[in-house]
Amino acid sequence: MKNNHWWKNAVVYQIYPKSFQDSNNDGIGDLQGIISRLDYLQKLGVDILWLNPIYESPQVDNGYDISNYRAINPMLGTMADFDQLLAAVHQRGMKLVMDLVVNHTSDQHHWFVEAKKNKDNPYRDFYIWQDGQGGHAPNNWGSYFSGPAWKYDPTTDQYYLHLFAPEQPDLNWENPRVRQAVYQMMNWWTDKGVDGFRMDVINLISKPAGLPDGLQTADEKYATVEGFVPNGPRVHEFLREMNRNVMSKHKMITVGETPNVTPADAKRYADLHNQELNMVFQFEHMNLDANPNPALGKWYDQKPKLADLRANLTKWQTELAGTAWNSLYWNNHDQPRVVSRFGDDSTEDYRVKSAKMLATMTHFMQGTPYIYEGEEIGMTNAGFTKLSDYVDLESINAYHQLVDDQGLVDPATMLKYLAMHSRDNARTPMQWDDSTNAGFSAHRPWEKVTANYRQVNVAKALADPDSIFYYYQRLIKFRHTMPVITDGTYALAPGNEDDPAIFAYTRRDKATTLLVILNYTDQAMERHYAVPKTAKLLISNYADDQGTTLRPYEAKVYQY
Ligand code: GLC
Ligand code: CA
Repeated sequence: MKNNHWWKNAVVYQIYPKSFQDSNNDGIGDLQGIISRLDYLQKLGVDILWLNPIYESPQVDNGYDISNYRAINPMLGTMADFDQLLAAVHQRGMKLVMDLVVNHTSDQHHWFVEAKKNKDNPYRDFYIWQDGQGGHAPNNWGSYFSGPAWKYDPTTDQYYLHLFAPEQPDLNWENPRVRQAVYQMMNWWTDKGVDGFRMDVINLISKPAGLPDGLQTADEKYATVEGFVPNGPRVHEFLREMNRNVMSKHKMITVGETPNVTPADAKRYADLHNQELNMVFQFEHMNLDANPNPALGKWYDQKPKLADLRANLTKWQTELAGTAWNSLYWNNHDQPRVVSRFGDDSTEDYRVKSAKMLATMTHFMQGTPYIYEGEEIGMTNAGFTKLSDYVDLESINAYHQLVDDQGLVDPATMLKYLAMHSRDNARTPMQWDDSTNAGFSAHRPWEKVTANYRQVNVAKALADPDSIFYYYQRLIKFRHTMPVITDGTYALAPGNEDDPAIFAYTRRDKATTLLVILNYTDQAMERHYAVPKTAKLLISNYADDQGTTLRPYEAKVYQY
């Protein structure tokens, strides 16, 4: 089993293709753009590249609405470009992971086009259709993107389920033909040579039997499905079947995106016996700064407390140890930039220091680290101030529902919440240099460039030996060369349990101890942690070591 776990000391880099590098100056990133930047990624030292969806798609949800699973979106390139990219990645000793979006398709997918024609169509049961109840939707479920989760189809006088946008109808996983079609498609990509899949909202594929109403608070227009749709009755059965049909046949890596999982769930999805997935993305640490009012969901602007963060990360480290595998991440294409959210971008010095401190926090933990494009240079939130700056449907819909429709928040407050939490913060063009449009494109980009690109960009980071980039490069190298990071035991440093400002933990194996000490605040703190005289300072984000004095956002790791 052990050598099946080749990914255990690997580091993944996530690329959002639309925003990474534009090669033909139409304002949209593309596959040739990625090829032109592979040397940069190799220099960083990452092992695996994960691409957000690049398939044919009407782009209602930026590629998470797929109309053809076996074709490349022409906006991003051709299949020949893809083959060239895959070969170039492999040539550099890296691997390529695709995004697998099979909870739903686009409404333009030929399965759905057929399914809509009439109730007897052979594809009808590829989707979830129900009769209405006296002119209303079949149940009270709300969509993740605001509004109801059902859409009425006049041709056949039934409703279909869409947990996301109406243009993203949910596939019916109860239908064995759907499952076989998905496995065949996955094998088609692995036969081509792709090295794995990141599986979009994979724990939503099995719906609760009978599709019952969910609980709804007085403020909510629809029931929030997060509470009862994830981890449905047959999800493990489906994933085991997928594993037998696909994963067991190839050397590959799989990571499931799984909202609303506990460590107990994750142990089943990601147990080390490889029966389902290799690891999951859990969201508990991403929900620590949600609004206290559930009707407002993630829309809020407070920084998460260290006490909550430490308790949560520690819980995942200890509960999964020895039985399942963690993914370690701060960012992705759905999350705001970590340095603006858990760190501090108020000054240039704090931006750099806090970005390194947060990287240190996760990169010494057990699991597989994921770096999202731009994180390695400390890219910040976008700083948008007007609703018209936003592109993402989730943000725009939420504004209209919460401000215009329900009046739960005033416009200025909602704009503050969007500035902190909108997914657009992650999707602004990659900042390569200080030229027009940050070197991303000569054309006006599809999404606005963040205003600080002259200060924060790859060219500057590469020219500065003290940059965030080189710090990440070192962290990646440590993971490749120090087994204690992959396999050592995790423990909080004695006395750290209730510290509101400092996070300190150890990793330990027979030969080595690492002591990680992190100041989460912008204040200097005095703390004593016992280290043997022989201890060496492995890495730090300050030029010197002042012993018991921990300066703002200081991070240091001792090895002994
Ligand atoms: C996942 C994706 C997100 C997408 C949604 C629907 O959460 O990460 O970007 O909008 O699924 O596919
Ligand atoms: Ca382009």
